[in-house]
Amino acid sequence: MNPPKKEEHKDPTANNGSVNGMPITSTFGKTKTKKVFIETYGCQMNLADSETMGGLLAEDGYQSAESMEDADIILINTCAVREKAEERVFGRLTHLQPLKKKNPDLVLGITGCMAEHLREKIAERAPDVDIIVGPDAYRRLPDLLGDKSSGKNMDALIDVKLDKAETYEGIPVKRRPGITSHISVQRGCDKFCTFCIVPFTRGRERGVSPEEVLKQAHQSVALGFKELMLLGQTVNSYTHHDENGKLTDFSDLLNMLVEIEGIERIRFTSPYPTDFNAKLIATMASHKKICKYLHLPAQSGSNRMLGLMRRQYTREEFDTLVGDIRTAMPNIAMSTDIIVGYPGESEDDFEATVDLLKTTRFDFGYLFKYSERSQTFAARNVEDDIPEALKKARLKKIIEVQEAICGEVFPAMIGQTVEVLVERDSKRNARQWVGKTDGFKACVFDKKDNGVGPGSLVKVLVKNATSHTLIGEQI
Ligand code: SAH
Ligand code: F3S
Repeated sequence: MNPPKKEEHKDPTANNGSVNGMPITSTFGKTKTKKVFIETYGCQMNLADSETMGGLLAEDGYQSAESMEDADIILINTCAVREKAEERVFGRLTHLQPLKKKNPDLVLGITGCMAEHLREKIAERAPDVDIIVGPDAYRRLPDLLGDKSSGKNMDALIDVKLDKAETYEGIPVKRRPGITSHISVQRGCDKFCTFCIVPFTRGRERGVSPEEVLKQAHQSVALGFKELMLLGQTVNSYTHHDENGKLTDFSDLLNMLVEIEGIERIRFTSPYPTDFNAKLIATMASHKKICKYLHLPAQSGSNRMLGLMRRQYTREEFDTLVGDIRTAMPNIAMSTDIIVGYPGESEDDFEATVDLLKTTRFDFGYLFKYSERSQTFAARNVEDDIPEALKKARLKKIIEVQEAICGEVFPAMIGQTVEVLVERDSKRNARQWVGKTDGFKACVFDKKDNGVGPGSLVKVLVKNATSHTLIGEQI
């Protein structure tokens, strides 16, 4: 896990700021000479969506571009959750202007949540953008690109129609090579927390059929992936009814997936507190393959704020849930999301959040200051009244509180033996491997000449720790 950067902790579902270029190689019959490059911002669902788009375009015959400079089409898959994420994309678009000048035929597309959220504003602020495509319109990408490339229309083509049935089933997802396969099992969100843009950008909640999830899981194993990361905005509210009305819930889905040979680990993100039930806790506890790690967004420790945010639980209910989970799985690692500076947050409300962090002692925290998002209930009905300086001060304070906890939680693991799924060379030292523990903690250890490599599951004795990394020795 990365240490906090600037004012925000990284979202576990995020690669905020880091840029993932995704080349596409065509493996299908049709062949086009055009090359596409996709750059992804935001949450892991966006990564998965980029892989879906990659699959759709490869199926249509598009080729891979190794870099933006090499591309005929550049798609920027965007996030709208905080204003900063959107500003980052506008900054990126300014950077791309010279490429567009050099190659006037270059097609530049904005996809994802910001496309949905800002539509015309993108066309106004970034006139170089040729197509604007929302999260439910990716199946029409090949047509839109075809229209644009034919040069018929000089204006930006906008397709941001939400589709309450779209789950992108049957698309040959083009996965980036790696250890973890990201599978969206649910799209959209029905919770409408007052601060959040997601229900507006991604539409209503819908579950992907278990057959499709299983198919993608089997394909992932065949491609050599070792870990599944199941994705949904409130992933544990997952339900799916087949045509005979048979219900599959999230526990059922997990129980099917653990049976697949070749999958070493299963993770999911993010569950919503009130969508937990005893069956799910028991399912998690009873399967070794299901990682003992939970990202459980709390947002605030104050009942008054939880009410104003329309989170559907109280502080006491949240604490009880954490207690039940820890009783069933005593060594489970946990993390959370917190927002400070939501309208009306008093000093007492803020202190209640500090208290939540101190008493729950999460292994990591993803800590944000409130960013008003147009369309949301909060933007329409309440004034963004906490001064920026106070938001910043509160964020700094909770980062310090959480850092201090991380500084105790990580070193407390010295002497323990952990199981690490090796991901890659350590960035700092190529003579070391880095991977994740079951509890999602980064762990580095010296390489030995023993055949271990990316995808190996190894036992490591923790010898040392920083507040974000375990340092160990393979045993
Ligand atoms: N259900 C998703 C939430 C997606 S948004 C999940 O659990 O991952 C991820 C996090 O961003 C939220 O949990 C919240 O802490 C934060 N967030 C959402 N809207 C925000 C806003 N308007 N300002 C600041 N942070 C926000
Ligand atoms: Fe957003 Fe709340 Fe859904 S944070 S994604 S509206 S659960």
